[in-house]
Formats: sequence, structure tokens, C-alpha cells
Amino acid sequence: MIGARAGDAYAAPLMDAASPLKGRSVHVCVCGGIAAYKAVEVVRRLQDAGARVQVAMTPNAQRFVGPLTFQSITHAPVLTETLDATEELEIGHIAFAQRCDALLVVPATANALAKFAHGLGDEVVSTVLLAARPRHTPVLLAPAMNTAMWENEATAENLAVLRRRGFLVVEPDDGVLACGAVGPGRLVPAEQLVSAVVEALDAQGPQGGLRGRRILVTAGPTREPLDPARFLSNASTGKAGFAVARACHAAGAQVTLVHGPVALVPPARVRTVSVVTAREMHAAVFAELDGPTPPDAVFMTAAVADFRPAVVASSKVKKATAPDHVELVRNPDILAELGARRGDATRPVLVGFAAESGHPVDYARQKLASKRADLVVANDITAEGAGFGTDTNHVWLVGPSEVDELSMRSKDAVADALVAWLVRRLSTGP
Ligand code: CTP
Repeated sequence: MIGARAGDAYAAPLMDAASPLKGRSVHVCVCGGIAAYKAVEVVRRLQDAGARVQVAMTPNAQRFVGPLTFQSITHAPVLTETLDATEELEIGHIAFAQRCDALLVVPATANALAKFAHGLGDEVVSTVLLAARPRHTPVLLAPAMNTAMWENEATAENLAVLRRRGFLVVEPDDGVLACGAVGPGRLVPAEQLVSAVVEALDAQGPQGGLRGRRILVTAGPTREPLDPARFLSNASTGKAGFAVARACHAAGAQVTLVHGPVALVPPARVRTVSVVTAREMHAAVFAELDGPTPPDAVFMTAAVADFRPAVVASSKVKKATAPDHVELVRNPDILAELGARRGDATRPVLVGFAAESGHPVDYARQKLASKRADLVVANDITAEGAGFGTDTNHVWLVGPSEVDELSMRSKDAVADALVAWLVRRLSTGP
């Protein structure tokens, strides 16, 4: 394990007007070829362009350049192994692949390309690439190798496969190679690689801080039936959750909105899943979590009913024969179950909501801890303009070490502030 101490801050490069990668996080995978030493310059140039950079290295790359070199210039841990428990906990190859704006493999050796094309994961970089999602987050491959290896049919076919899968290839230059041969196979200059990263990010469209991210939002109440005509529910209208979904989509994310019974028009181009009960919401959320493309963050904006009637009558209960008491049983706590996955590198960022009638910050702190969320958004539903069904809200963003009060504003403005928080959280980590 090569790593900075927990809490070491990333030293941001000096910014100037030409910082096309400002606020972007680029993860660099270094493979074992002689051009590995040039990756040091590439990392510097990416930082000069404003990017935050983190590095992973194959064992062979580490024979050309020491991980300490990259750690020193990035001020961040370097991922060097897949089977190191501490390293997995601190960075994790899945998070390394998915929690960035772009991945760059430099140099991409013939062997590395063959492994990526065939889905092998026998060391850290090939394992990272297996977890990469090139159609969501650009993955750039910068090959460098001897001309014969570059021109080998196997390499050409592997590249064709990778291109088809959405990987971007920055073709090598012609020139004198390290082995003395002259021909194609020379790594392109560092500045050209930086431009390729900028272009790949620009090609994704207008810069939205959540571009390439998948976000799951829940909204509205749940209904817990007593019989075909009656149910237990709450006063949630879904306005806050729909505003969050809209804001995430506007920031470039692919959004899934799981909502209970509401009378709102869903935002355009947001995938919606309509549910009724807490258990249906639970199933819909975990289907997303355990599906092929799990979300980067979950906003549990829904007012999930904590209890449901133990027995649901199949026909309408008549007054004359109705029982005096209704027995209730607990519903699953979706947020707490999500929070219990802490330690799993793929666990999404979790935002909970606490609608309280007094002491919102105190209760939010308790919920943050008990549900192991990353943020709890608290409001006081008894305050003017801050309850269910209003178009405004006055909230506190309660994190593990900070509380931010957002004075009264529209629910859309609250949603924008939450997106801004999430963009920061996804790029800087906890
Ligand atoms: N939540 C959940 N599943 C539940 C209940 C709540 O996922 N069964 C989520 C809500 O979506 C919200 C957060 O947990 O993000 C807090 O919900 P809240 O109802 O305020 O918390 P409870 O745990 O139900 O606590 P209490 O009712 O005692 O205030």
C-alpha cells in the first residue's frame, strides 16, 4: 500500500484563466511500458489544467516508476494492488473507476489492451478497467509500444473491440521509439493527452457537475392499505423530491425517480418508477442498487411510512364489524439499510431527509448517525412556508462535522443547493 495519510489534503495547482479541467477529477492508470515515466509529466499537465488527479499503477509500471513519485505530485494515495484490504477500504478499485470525470490509461501497452478487450482483471489496472463505464465516463487509452506490437493484428483487433465498447483511443505518434526502431508507437506528447481529455469531457455536452452520474431520488408519501378503500399515509406531496430530480437532471445526471402516489407531472427525461407502499419502494430502490448500473448517489426524499397494518382486509371493512384497534407492523427502513452497506466501495452517497416538528438539527444529527447517511436535510414542518405541500422550504444541511442553514427559499433553490453539495462530495470524497 502506498498512500497518503488519511486526511491529507489535495494540493490544488495554481489556477489561471486557462484551467479547462478546473473542478474535474481525472484518474490515471499507468501500465508497464518504458513510456510509464512520461505519465509523470502527463499527471503534472493535467493538474496544471486544473484537474484533481489520482493514480493507479500495474505491478510492471511500478518497476519503471515508483508509486511514491505519483503520490508526491498528486498528494493522494496511489492504487497499487487489488487484494490489499486497507487499500480497498481507502480507495477501492470500483470507486477509482467510477468516481471520476475521466479515466486515462497511459501508456496503454499491448498487453493491457489485450486484457481490457478480453475482460481480464489480474492486477489493479485491468480490474479498474473492468469496472469502468466508458459510455458514462470517458475512458481514454493512450497506447505506446514497439511498432511491430502496434501493427500486430491482435492489437488492432483488440483496439477495434475497445472502440466499439466506447473506449477512446489517442493514437500514438510516428517517431524514434525507446527500442531504437522508427515508426508508429510513440506516446503522444503530454499536452496532446490533456487536450484529448478536455475534448472528451466537452463532447459530453454543456458542463453539468453531475454529467455521467446516475442519481436515484425517492419522493412523495407511501400508502399502506387497510382494505381496498382505506390506507395509512402522510401529507407529503412529493414537491421536494421532484425538485431534486429536476435539478439533478439539469446538472447532467441520469436520474431515476421512485415515487409514491403524487399529483405532480414528472420532469422530462427522468425515468420514473411509480410505487404505492413502503415495501414496493424498498424493492424498487434495491433493484436499482443491485442492478447493472447502480447510482452514484441516493436522495431519500420520500416520506416513507414507518408502519403498515398487520392485516389488509380483502374487502371493505364495515363499521359494524370493524375492530377497535388496528395492529401495525414496522416497514423496512430503506435509508438505514442503504447506510448499513457502508464499507462497500460501491455504496452510493446517501442523503436523507428529516421533516420534524421542532429540534430539526438535533433529530437530523441522530438520523445521520443511526442511518449512516452522508447528509441529512432537516426542516421544521411547523414553521411558516416550510411544511408539506409548500413551494418553499427552510432547511439545515446536517453533515458529520458541519451544519449549513439555508434560509427560506424555493424548493427548486434548495434542490440546486443539494446538487452543489453533491458535486463537491463526489469530487472530493468524504
Ligand atoms: N426513511 C426510509 N425508510 C423508512 C423511514 C424513513 O428510508 N421506513 C428515510 C426517509 O426517506 C428519510 C429519512 O429516512 O430520508 C428520515 O425519515 P423520517 O421519517 O424522518 O425518520 P424515521 O426514521 O421514520 O424517524 P421518526 O419517524 O422517528 O422521526
